Amino acid sequence: MRIDILSVVPDLLESPLNHSIIKRAKDKGIVEIHIHNIRDYSEDKHKRVDDYQFGGGAGMVIKIQPVAKLIEKLLKEREYDEIIYTSPDGGTLDQAMANSMSMYGNIMILCGHYKGIDHRIRERYITKEISIGDYVLTGGELAACVIVDSVVRLIPGAINDETSALSDSFQDNLLAPPVYTRPAEYDGMRVPDILLSGDHKKVHEWQEQQALERTKLLRPDLLEKK
Ligand code: ADE
Repeated sequence: MRIDILSVVPDLLESPLNHSIIKRAKDKGIVEIHIHNIRDYSEDKHKRVDDYQFGGGAGMVIKIQPVAKLIEKLLKEREYDEIIYTSPDGGTLDQAMANSMSMYGNIMILCGHYKGIDHRIRERYITKEISIGDYVLTGGELAACVIVDSVVRLIPGAINDETSALSDSFQDNLLAPPVYTRPAEYDGMRVPDILLSGDHKKVHEWQEQQALERTKLLRPDLLEKK
């Protein structure tokens, strides 16, 4: 998979996309992530990427020219399955969305910033708007990192233990059961005996029952989706 991310603050994307599972997936050649600085495409002599809103109103808007130039350049190079704009206006990211995006070949993600982006960009190029929740972030860069993380970990080979991503919370609309590691007892707190029994069938039944109970207790809304 190839992911192109377009941003006016590309430094915000560097660290989250260069560690842990995402870094390993890149090193293994499972995913290529290209971060583009919108400012590099500005034809303004001061390399400005934002301007005041027509009609007045507080906050700056990302200009159409540098974004259109960058998107056009990328579109000449390859086709994209989806051109995503990160925005609180979009549908909220969920596991089903991440699953379907993990099957794509090429994705472009345009990060909003400041007050937003000239609306003509959204009308001409954007195929999907995604929000990561009903709150407003300073910019779409953190949202882009969340989207990329949720998608890349699902690509086969990204996680060493193949079953691990499939048994995540939400994959079957159930929360994950609690997990423990050594020591079996710490400061009077014991790991449930069943997990130490070595009986894999019983352990599995316990995990399923815990998943169901935790979902009923903490996220009953998920059971309605089942
Ligand atoms: N940009 C600002 N807020 C956002 C959100 N909640 N989701 C995605 N992009 C955003």
